Amino acid sequence: MLRTHLCTELGKEDIGKEVQVCGWCNTYRDHGGVIFIDLRDKSGIIQLVCDPNSQAHSIASSVRDEYVLLAKGKIRARGDGLENPKLKTGMIEIVLESLVIENKSPTPPIAIGDESVNEELRLKYRYLDLRSPKAYNIFKIRSDAAIAARNSLQKMGFLEVETPILTKATPEGARDYLVPSRVHSGEFYALPQSPQLFKQLLMMSGFDKYFQIAKCFRDEDLRADRQPEFTQIDIEMSFCEQNDIIAMAETLLQDIFAACGEQIAIPFMRMPYTQAMESYGSDKPDLRFEMPLVEVGDLFLDSSNEIFKNIAKDSKNNRFKALCVKGGDTFFTRKSLGEAEEFVRKFGAKGLAYIQVKENELKGPLVKFISESAMNELISRVGAKPNDIIFFGAGAKKVVWDYMGRLRLKIAADMNLIDENMRKFLWVVDFPMFEKEDGKVKALHHPFTMPKDLDKDDVEEIESIAYDVVLNGIELGGGSIRIHKDSIQKSVFELLGITQEEAQDKFGFLLEALSFGAPPHGGIAIGFDRLIMLLAKTQSIRDVIAFPKTQKATCPLTLAPSAVSDEQLRELHIRLKG
Ligand code: AMO
Repeated sequence: MLRTHLCTELGKEDIGKEVQVCGWCNTYRDHGGVIFIDLRDKSGIIQLVCDPNSQAHSIASSVRDEYVLLAKGKIRARGDGLENPKLKTGMIEIVLESLVIENKSPTPPIAIGDESVNEELRLKYRYLDLRSPKAYNIFKIRSDAAIAARNSLQKMGFLEVETPILTKATPEGARDYLVPSRVHSGEFYALPQSPQLFKQLLMMSGFDKYFQIAKCFRDEDLRADRQPEFTQIDIEMSFCEQNDIIAMAETLLQDIFAACGEQIAIPFMRMPYTQAMESYGSDKPDLRFEMPLVEVGDLFLDSSNEIFKNIAKDSKNNRFKALCVKGGDTFFTRKSLGEAEEFVRKFGAKGLAYIQVKENELKGPLVKFISESAMNELISRVGAKPNDIIFFGAGAKKVVWDYMGRLRLKIAADMNLIDENMRKFLWVVDFPMFEKEDGKVKALHHPFTMPKDLDKDDVEEIESIAYDVVLNGIELGGGSIRIHKDSIQKSVFELLGITQEEAQDKFGFLLEALSFGAPPHGGIAIGFDRLIMLLAKTQSIRDVIAFPKTQKATCPLTLAPSAVSDEQLRELHIRLKG
């Protein structure tokens, strides 16, 4: 090896030792002939010093940022007052005896580790961006987590199996990435949105316990926690019930966190979907702070305001939610109240009513619309005290849940109510099987999810055996018990308005496999990138993917996607329009 130590493996105990280190020049300073070089490798930085009378001096004086260096020298303590407590190696330095410039570099277009640089530029030079020890550490966590996941699942009896990338459309509900076939003119493969159908087929193969660290592809709008190409820890097991999958996933997560140096307590809390929506306005509530939404519609049934009264009357479809913010009356100014209203309007609110709770009075437009006794009941139901503010959202339930849930999160962030070191795991269970969008019935998870009972007049009241695991308000994973009887599968397709022909065309192979003795089975997929994002405490999924795509699904490094030659298009039987 060209090195005896990594830069940060050295410390005070090595004083006097001859060592060899290698890496990149992070910074270079010339103090009246004495040259200081901060040498950086994946572990961090150590200072090299070169006196004017040293043999290495002429080479050291030609070093510039990002030159690749092989350095030999002796460790010594830094002089009094010259220690740098911010550096792990800040008490020592290497007195250079010899220095080799292994490679030069032009001035780098980005400063290594500088997160204020434009992201597009950082991604264009991602290999330079990844040179920072902070980035390396994220990928160390990612690697440790993947290895721990494999070990944990193997210990629990799972088999790792790879499934195809060139395949047929899968049912996760996003747009597919398509790959044209050269051999079969006019036909396309789809990249898998998840290995869902294959893992179910493996249960029909009798494999009993499957997992895969699987690449998934979804052509959907990107956000801070979404990439078009991402990784799942994908799991399926046979002859199991919801509790078995939940217990297995908890052990897996506990093992992964432990491998990354964190102990987490299991079992996690569970909350029915309905409670999550009613109390937090979200199916992935952030429970690091309380501040629940409280239903107060019944108190507006006799309101003198016709609009409020009418909303309150239809308690099946509408909600009237109060959100009491402790100390909010001091926190909110006229300006920030206006901003809060602007914020909820973006998500469909018609306005944002509020009541300011003063020492001896209640202030705000809503006060005059209900009786004093109803108002007293409201104040006691939300637990309001002087100096609090209560916000209200009223209207169609899905809209109110959504904007009040978002408002809850925004206020918590603005008021700094979230302890960033806290881990709040949660299972959301008892999801509805279906949801209606523009009058169309859709599967909330996917059409292979087992319903609890199909015998309900309103399809939206049918529950499924589906569960999501949530961490700090982010959906980490989701899964379900699957349908293993073709009669139930047919009924579900019918309710979804999928005809028999369509079902045959899209999933005929799965339906046929179900008919050959399918075992009861179920599974889960954990979003691996999101897991690493949370483990590494970064804000963007792009930080935890070596070569991620931009928000516009492009790769500034390789310039993908890009045009292809006419010849390639001809071979693929494709003619471009225009
Ligand atoms: P689902 O679609 O809920 O379930 O996906 C499971 C988990 O994958 C992660 N995830 C994503 N991560 C990054 N970018 C994306 N675009 C993205 N989309 C999803 C999330 C999510 O919780 N086949 C089912 C699982 C099953 O039923 O077993 C599935 O894929 O963390």
